[in-house]
Amino acid sequence: VEVVIVPDARAGGELIAEAMAQLLRRKPDAVLGVATGSTPLPVYEALAAKVRSGGVDASRARIAQLDEYVGLPADHPESYRSVLGRQVLQPLGLGPGAFMGPDGRAADIPAACAAYEETLEKAGGVDLQLLGIGTDGHIGFNEPCSSLASRTRIKTLTEQTRVDNARFFDGDIEQVPHHVITQGIGTILAARHVVLLATGAGKADAVAASVEGPVAAVCPASALQLHPHATVVVDEAAAAELK
Ligand code: F6R
Repeated sequence: VEVVIVPDARAGGELIAEAMAQLLRRKPDAVLGVATGSTPLPVYEALAAKVRSGGVDASRARIAQLDEYVGLPADHPESYRSVLGRQVLQPLGLGPGAFMGPDGRAADIPAACAAYEETLEKAGGVDLQLLGIGTDGHIGFNEPCSSLASRTRIKTLTEQTRVDNARFFDGDIEQVPHHVITQGIGTILAARHVVLLATGAGKADAVAASVEGPVAAVCPASALQLHPHATVVVDEAAAAELK
């Protein structure tokens, strides 16, 4: 794993947005795998700024979703499809045709998971997968002890993750869904380049365990050590526990 320490979240966002821009200049219809949550926002803002200033043409980019809540109406403002529409598709000027994601409202969830795997494969795979990291070391919603070979499937959120995400639901944990569809760790590792961004002191323990600890299912992000091209971008606060 290549570790890059940057001064702050903004610098991390700029660095990763430039990597995405370089990819799009080389491969205009590249598949960008995108995460939600707070961490990736500086990346999306920096990439949108490059598009607005003419620094990169993202009009043919394809966007692949990492995970989705199960059971939220598609137009719910906190469904990840909605969030990514606001934070990625609209700012980049992309329409719904550029978007790939699992159907969190499907009657047959395992079939929806398999269909999403097939969609990704038909698209030629993910070129650059952006990840955040949970305080418990999760990537996507692969919570601790997820199989390192797992593919897209339904998972139950831990209580800690529901507490962490209640801030997006008026602080009311009751409104946070219990289940999600997430790309598996095996799915994530199939991306050609995996880039994890971690910012803030709250992520320092998880970052150290992921990068310097053993590869182990108790820390899902440690699976990045198995990837031939994984980059972990951390601000100084999140790098604090690295040796
Ligand atoms: C979200 C996701 C999660 C988050 C993680 C960190 O799509 O896959 O793994 O990246 O929970 O969330 P933030 O960035 O809000 O701290």
